[in-house]
Amino acid sequence: MLIGILAPMPEEIDLILHAMTDIQIVHSGKRDFYKGKIAGRDCIAALSRIGKVASAVTAAVMIEKFHISHLIVTGVAGAIDPRLHIGDIVVATECVQHDLDARPLFKQFEAPLLDEGFFKCDPELVKYALHACNHLIQNQFLGRITQTDIDKFGLLDARVYSGLLCCGDQFIGSQLQLDKIRQDLPSVLCVEMEGGAVGQVCYEYNIKYVVVRSISDTANDDAHIDFHQYINSVSRHYCLAIITNVIEHLN
Ligand code: ADE
Repeated sequence: MLIGILAPMPEEIDLILHAMTDIQIVHSGKRDFYKGKIAGRDCIAALSRIGKVASAVTAAVMIEKFHISHLIVTGVAGAIDPRLHIGDIVVATECVQHDLDARPLFKQFEAPLLDEGFFKCDPELVKYALHACNHLIQNQFLGRITQTDIDKFGLLDARVYSGLLCCGDQFIGSQLQLDKIRQDLPSVLCVEMEGGAVGQVCYEYNIKYVVVRSISDTANDDAHIDFHQYINSVSRHYCLAIITNVIEHLN
């Protein structure tokens, strides 16, 4: 078993890289791939950078060059479902690209000539990720987040959701963009810029994957303000705690 860990921003992966032991760094395609151990398990972690192409290439290199068996994508997302609040966590059960539209040649959201657009996450990884997220929330964030930040972001009310996640090559930061996604994909929980692209690569190579995202913003006109505050003080702690717990439990 070799577990790949991918996140798009430095604040989402820095503590994970610090937690790795026996590190060997391999440079490929303007990226550093960190081979090492987390909780005694062989892992490979990389900062993918932001967006569908960057994350798809990172996933493909992890598969082709390093032969990962599992891939976990982590980081933050904007809320689309109005039940979601900042600090909640989404474990994706499937991922789609909201900006993929080759109609009338192919169905909306379908990857052309692949016959698929909704890429299912691995049920076992979903189960372990849900366990990890609930563990984090039910145990006062394992002492990793300051009381000031818990109060500031209202984290004591944080909840865990699972379901459909969407991605696209835009930061969603206006009510107009938000409403369009909600209209196109009524059951979608949250939006980010990588999950569906990585999902497509994992589907093509038959690799087990899951995407776990905490909510940094409500994808409306305030999104950019909430995003920066949250990513600096909260997201890195969520990412490390969840990834470590999943890796510890994975059989
Ligand atoms: N990642 C976090 N928040 C996001 C947003 N509002 N749009 C796209 N990706 C995001």
